Amino acid sequence: ILDIMQTYDHENVILCQEKGLGVRAIIAIHDTTLGPAAGGMRMLPYASEQDAIDDALRLARGMTYKAAVAGVNHGGGKCIVIGDPRHDKNEALFCLLGRFIERLGGHYITGEDVGTNAFDMDIIGRETRYVFALPSGEEVSDFTAIGVMQGIRASLQQVYGSADLQGCSVAVQGIGSVGGKLVKRLIEAGAVVSIADIDQAAVEQVARDFPEVSVLPPQEVHTHPVDVYCPCALGAILSSRTIPELQCKIVCGAANNQLADEQCSDLLMQQGIVYAPDFVVNAGGLIAYADSYTPEGFQRQRALTNVERIYHTLESIFALSGQQSIATAHAADLIAEQRIAAMRQAKSAM
Ligand code: PHE
Repeated sequence: ILDIMQTYDHENVILCQEKGLGVRAIIAIHDTTLGPAAGGMRMLPYASEQDAIDDALRLARGMTYKAAVAGVNHGGGKCIVIGDPRHDKNEALFCLLGRFIERLGGHYITGEDVGTNAFDMDIIGRETRYVFALPSGEEVSDFTAIGVMQGIRASLQQVYGSADLQGCSVAVQGIGSVGGKLVKRLIEAGAVVSIADIDQAAVEQVARDFPEVSVLPPQEVHTHPVDVYCPCALGAILSSRTIPELQCKIVCGAANNQLADEQCSDLLMQQGIVYAPDFVVNAGGLIAYADSYTPEGFQRQRALTNVERIYHTLESIFALSGQQSIATAHAADLIAEQRIAAMRQAKSAM
């Protein structure tokens, strides 16, 4: 672990263990230059502890870049809980996780992620102040979905010279909390939507709610000829194996860590596909959460305005990528690294 931490410059990795309840969790804090580390709590049945640690480290680092580009004053962190969210959740588990987080004294603030929801966060909130919460009636995944819509519009503008979704074909892979909300918004905007998910029951539900949606097999969704391929499931779906099979003009979706490795962004560029960097596009949830953490508290209109800025942020990333002939993911990295470096200098100067 120390080697990986050194390579990617993580500040802390905390392992949490409690035998009685069988809790095993990892909290990774990547960088707190811009502020306390923010990042969701992800609960999945990881095959091994090593897989869970790797995911925590990669996702925490992604959050640092996400916050830096989004203009949010937070660093990057993540909490990974090893377990099956369908069977292994209980009140005691989240109380305990809340106490682990409280002990970090505010260096890490948690929130919803894959496998956790607002109910779980309420329990955590009994034990710690360091958990993001939106006012009742607001869902964080809504803001993420609004941000992804902005990302899709900016990408369409870049490729076709029009940000109008009317008649555009979009394949949504993963119809969980963000993907599901996106399907609704895409249909409302006039897009022709196809979906895929390994959860058959979820697919049937969406197909009932929106009969106009077509259903694709999960293994083939990325090969479907569409304007926009929208990954909203788990990470690493863009690899040297899948990229040559893509038949889309744009990749723009909510999943974190879509690129299996760094070369993949160049592969996409060589294939003439516009890639909207995941951590730019999916920052809507973080932006809304950060808004709730201000002294005034959550202000819906301000949060929405900031989420909608994702459109313009992507425009500048596309412009930088064009000027310097670099992949869009590299352009986004540069913007993030510049902001962090400047703030680090400002802080050490005082
Ligand atoms: N899990 C979401 C993300 O990865 C939302 C989130 C942001 C959760 C910040 C906690 C903290 O962006």
